[in-house]
Amino acid sequence: MEKRIKGFSKLSKQAKMEWLAKAHLANPTEGLTLMQSYMHSDAQIQKRHDEFIENTVANYFLPFGVAPNFLINGEVYTLPMAIEESSVVAAAAKSAQFWMARGGFHSEIISSTKIGHIHFMFDGDTEALKSVFAELSVELKQATSHITANMEKRGGGILDIQLVDKTAALAEYYQVEVRFDTRDSMGANFINSCLEEMAKVLKRGVAQAETTAASHLDVVMCILSNYTPECLVRCEVHCALEDMVEGTDMTAMEFAHKFQRAVRIAEVEPYRAATHNKGIMNGIDAVILATGNDFRAVEAACHAYAARDGQYRSLTHCSVEDGLFRFWIEIPLSLGTVGGLTQLHPLVKMALEMLGNPGAHQLMMIVAASGLAQNFAALRALTTTGIQKGHMKMHLLNILNQLGATETEKEIIAAQFAKLVPHHADVVKAFYDLRGLPVPGAH
Ligand code: MEV
Repeated sequence: MEKRIKGFSKLSKQAKMEWLAKAHLANPTEGLTLMQSYMHSDAQIQKRHDEFIENTVANYFLPFGVAPNFLINGEVYTLPMAIEESSVVAAAAKSAQFWMARGGFHSEIISSTKIGHIHFMFDGDTEALKSVFAELSVELKQATSHITANMEKRGGGILDIQLVDKTAALAEYYQVEVRFDTRDSMGANFINSCLEEMAKVLKRGVAQAETTAASHLDVVMCILSNYTPECLVRCEVHCALEDMVEGTDMTAMEFAHKFQRAVRIAEVEPYRAATHNKGIMNGIDAVILATGNDFRAVEAACHAYAARDGQYRSLTHCSVEDGLFRFWIEIPLSLGTVGGLTQLHPLVKMALEMLGNPGAHQLMMIVAASGLAQNFAALRALTTTGIQKGHMKMHLLNILNQLGATETEKEIIAAQFAKLVPHHADVVKAFYDLRGLPVPGAH
């Protein structure tokens, strides 16, 4: 069947599913049944999901787990986590418990300003542009008043508007750099709308001014920046060095020093830093997704921040001084607890309710704790027993599910591997041995 199609978006949902199944799947009937089986039984809820994006043909499930016992700034939270990777939720819960007994997580907001730009090219005199821009400053802000009125009522709005000369980096390139306080909303639509209104004023003003009228100003784009180094949160755990007991044969001092060295390696070595930060993002993304926030934006911001001095480095840091172990994270998190999916997705609504319907600042502090907890769990495993023990245990179930093991078979094989690292080939062999069958493909 022809794999290309014209006017796909205009087809009904059923017709889209049928075309997809026929054009791209080996067994169209099975494919269709599968897509249908992933639809929500409540038509209203399904319609809402259909309308989040275009061309919806099914829902894509991710497990929604919870990690209890997070003591953050004296409050106990149960963190909602949407993630497919085994062991992330278990690791978060384990870390939370460890730190619950040692005073918990201490989070603080450093700043919460968002930035957007009108990126434009101008071929005239820079000084003339500067003076026209100065004259336009009131009008630039006024032009957005119909958009900012509500935000201002909530205490937010435009904080600052600057002209930035970027011609040293790229000929004729300038920016209008605008700072915003978007309160409890992530603010992407708000920021972009403001910038587009301002761009009209800028274009008109430069075309009309005597000193710049003969020059050419070309607005390239108006867009918020996902790099948010002025929307920062810091979270720390600390305890007396002797309380860093680990449950292995290492002393508290040995463990703390080994842990600190692992962090130092990620501070200086990009190969390790990428994996180290990926582990942090396991915790962060899971809460971000569960609370209906934009994990791609947060990933972009965190990785850009990790490379802010020109070298990609660890987002967490550690010190062992004067008998005190301290471990902390500092990350840019631009989050929203109103708007977007927050009131539309029933599970997102529930996730926010579980957290006590936090404002954006509170959610930033919770998410930072989740990232720190995840990194603590990963480094603790890596510097003591090794990562595979915990990881592969959780992975055992995935392997058995892939093989189609029954519940009884899962129990028997899990018991066999209770004290062993379940390498894939060994689990496959145990499964076929249990069924009295030869391993497929084995000689
Ligand atoms: C795996 O998803 C994450 C880790 O690799 C993180 C790390 O190495 O720190 C375990």
